[in-house]
Amino acid sequence: MQFELTEDQHLLQQTVRKFARETLLPVAAELDEEGKFPKAQVARMAELGLMGIMAPVEYGGAGMDPVCYAVAMEEISAGCASCGVIMSVNNSLVVDPILKYGTEAQKRAYLPDLTSGRTLGCFGLSEPGTGSDAAAQTTIAEKKGDRWIINGSKNWITNGKEADVFLMMAMGDKSKGVKGINAYIIPMNTPGLTVAKNEKKLGIKASSTTQVILENVSLSLDALLGKEGDGFKIAMGSLDGGRIGIASQALGIARQAFEEARDYAKERHAFGAPIANFQAIQFKLADMAMEIDAARLLIWRAAALKGAGQKFGPQAAMAKLFASEMATRVTHQAIQIFGGFGYSKEYPAERHYRDARITEIYEGTSEIQRLVIGRHALTS
Ligand code: CAA
Repeated sequence: MQFELTEDQHLLQQTVRKFARETLLPVAAELDEEGKFPKAQVARMAELGLMGIMAPVEYGGAGMDPVCYAVAMEEISAGCASCGVIMSVNNSLVVDPILKYGTEAQKRAYLPDLTSGRTLGCFGLSEPGTGSDAAAQTTIAEKKGDRWIINGSKNWITNGKEADVFLMMAMGDKSKGVKGINAYIIPMNTPGLTVAKNEKKLGIKASSTTQVILENVSLSLDALLGKEGDGFKIAMGSLDGGRIGIASQALGIARQAFEEARDYAKERHAFGAPIANFQAIQFKLADMAMEIDAARLLIWRAAALKGAGQKFGPQAAMAKLFASEMATRVTHQAIQIFGGFGYSKEYPAERHYRDARITEIYEGTSEIQRLVIGRHALTS
C-alpha cells in the first residue's frame, strides 16, 4: 500500500492547481454573481486535457487514470465549483459510458469532439417525478420501423443549456421493469428536443441546470447506446464513476474554504492576538484538516480500485457520502471562523457554503449513498 501520488499524478496536480489558482479562482465570484457559464475557462480546461481525462489518446483523451481524474477535479473545484461539475458530467456521465458501451462508430462520432471541448455533454436520468427512484422512468422510447421515437421530459440536467450531446435514459419496454430501460445518445439540436427551464439555484450558479423536453424526437436505430435493456446498468455504472467526481468536487470546495479560513485566522486579531492562537479556532481547523484528509483517502481508494478494474461502486458511494457531508461541515465552520465577514459577500466563504450543499444531493443523495453502502454491507 502506498499513499503517495506517482510522479505523473503529482505533476498533473501541480499543473492543474496552478491553472485553477491563476485562471479560475480570480473569476469564480464574478461567474457566481452573474450566473455566467465559464465558456472561456472550460475551453482552457479542454486544452489541458481535462474534458476527456480518462479517455484514450486515440479518441482525443488524455489517457490518464481515475486517480488523475480525482486529483484534477479537486483542483478545478477548489478554483471554481461550477467548472468542477461541468467537467465531472462531461467525463463521468458522457465520455465514460460512450467509451464503455459505444460502438466504434459512436466512439469516433462523439468522443474526439467531447474530449477536446469542441462539444459538451449532458446526462439525463432524473425526471420531474423520478429522482432517487431512477428505475421509475416515464420517458418513453418506442421503436417504429427503423426509428426510435422518444417522448417525455428530463430534469436537473447539468450543462443542459450549453451541451451539444445528450446521453439519456428512457423506458423502452415497461413490462421488463429496469431491464426495459434503454440509453440513447442524442444530438441536442435534434428536432423535438427543447431545453426548457433553467433553474435558479443556491450554488454552482455558473453551471446551467435545465429541464429537457422531448416531443416525438425521432432517432435512427444507431442512437441506442449498448443493447436494448442496458440503460439502467449504464446509468448506474456511470454514476458509480460520477460519484468519484462529485466527491472530488466536494473535497476541492472544502479545501479551498479551509485554506482561506486558516489564512484569515492568522491575520485576524482579537483579544490582543491572532485568532489562530486560540484553541477554539485551532480545534476547528484541526477537525477541518482531518476530515478533508479522510475524504481524500476515501476518494483515492475508490479511484484506484476503478483504475485497477475492480468493483468500486460501494467505495465510490462511501467517498461521495463522506466528502459531501464533510464539505457542508467544513464550509459551515469556515464561515464561523470568518464571523460576520463569512456571512457577507466580501469573502468567498459564503459561496463555498452554497456550492458545497448540492454535493449531498446530485448524482445520488446522501440517503441513496447510505442505501448503496448498506446493501453492500449486508451482502458482502
Ligand atoms: N452498476 C451496474 N448495475 C447496477 C448497479 C451498478 N452500480 N446498481 C444496480 N445495478 C443493477 C442491479 O444489479 C440490478 O440488475 P440485476 O437484476 O440484473 O441484478 C438492476 O440494476 C436493478 O438494481 P436495484 O434492484 O439495486 O435497483 P433499485 O431500483 O433498487 O435502485 C438505486 C437502486 C441505488 C436506488 C438507484 O435507483 C439509484 O442509484 N438512485 C439514485 C439515482 C441518482 O443517483 N440520480 C442522480 C441523477 S444524475 C445527476 O445528478 C446528474 C447531474 O447532472 C449532476
